Amino acid sequence: MTDLLVQTAGESHGPCGTAFITGMPAGLKVDTDFINTALRRRQGGYGRGGRQRIETDEVEVTSGVRLGLTTGAPIVLQVPNKDARLDDLERTPPMHRPRPGHADLAGSLKYDTDDCRNVLERASARETAARTAAGALTRLLLREVGIETFAYLRGLLDIDAPVTVTDDLEALRAACDASEVYNPDPAASAAMIDHIRQAKVNKDTVGGLCEVHVLGCPPGLGTCMERMETLDSKLAGAVMSIQAFKGVEVGLGCAVTTRTGSQVHDPIEHDGHGYVRPTNNAGGIEGGMTNGMPIVVRGAMKPISTLLQGLPSVDMRTHEAQQSTYERSDVCAAPAASVVMEHVVAVEIAAAVLRRYAGDTLSQIKTAMGIK
Ligand SMILES: Cc1cc2nc3c(=O)[nH]c(=O)nc-3n(C[C@H](O)[C@H](O)[C@H](O)COP(=O)(O)O)c2cc1C
Repeated sequence: MTDLLVQTAGESHGPCGTAFITGMPAGLKVDTDFINTALRRRQGGYGRGGRQRIETDEVEVTSGVRLGLTTGAPIVLQVPNKDARLDDLERTPPMHRPRPGHADLAGSLKYDTDDCRNVLERASARETAARTAAGALTRLLLREVGIETFAYLRGLLDIDAPVTVTDDLEALRAACDASEVYNPDPAASAAMIDHIRQAKVNKDTVGGLCEVHVLGCPPGLGTCMERMETLDSKLAGAVMSIQAFKGVEVGLGCAVTTRTGSQVHDPIEHDGHGYVRPTNNAGGIEGGMTNGMPIVVRGAMKPISTLLQGLPSVDMRTHEAQQSTYERSDVCAAPAASVVMEHVVAVEIAAAVLRRYAGDTLSQIKTAMGIK
């Protein structure tokens, strides 16, 4: 059994996005409706651009699944692009005025070209459709072993609207889905929508603060033995890999510097059945391992770098000062990014489960975890 690994391929306007997944056990029921629901949520959220009206993302499973069950072989998931036009030079022309904040300039310097097109087609967050599909597959595995994920948009500009994650996850998910920005609080949602609307009027963009909770993890996922293998470092890497994410926190995160030790560290108690923690400032991870409390991770997304007003840039052919190119774009993709974050976190948690409770089949893994 190899470690769980998810890789993707595909350009924003190529024929499809592809996820290549190795290390999944045999015997997992692949519910494509579940994956498609995740893909639809990734497409949603107030502030998205015209692309999402063109696409209706649906997964195609082309390898590793027979009669609806994983076989243990590599799995390939594909998400076709309706707006496929990579080789159409009229509709997808070369791009010479790099957008500050995007991959355009750095990538063009790296690949020795004054046309940013190749770089931006791959750097684009269209890639997150394939990664979300792969993450949804790993969520199906996690559900089998009693682990659930929940994501929402916690903040945007001056708004911070944290949620208390209760046992009634379904109610929370429904409230989240009822919000156009994926925050269960209607007042906070309305205020966020106002900010996004105003940014659009100003030909500007906004980012946001996404938060993911993982419930039901047994203690001991991850390790303290190799620092680069700690669960928090894996989660930080995964969250930071999402396009436009510039900060990651676990539990209290950066706020630990504003408190003393007695105000930060969660007391340890025993209730006769097991260890309990009255608080969860650690966000469910101590020493790089799960401690039995819910995992809480936050990711900060910067504002979208394609602005209708453009930003100061230069034409790479002439080096003359020009405003950056505008390509059809989102004004705010932070609600969608919360969905992406949920799914990259799910991949890391599933990888940690499979590392600790290794097995070739789902039933072997369940037996190792003591699940009937
Ligand atoms: C869900 C999602 C949607 C995005 N949509 C856009 C977009 O429409 N326009 C844009 O310029 N950037 C968008 N981005 C961000 C860029 O992909 C990202 O800034 C770029 O690839 C450079 O990577 P970096 O910001 O991590 O350095 C989006 C990011 C995410 C997560």
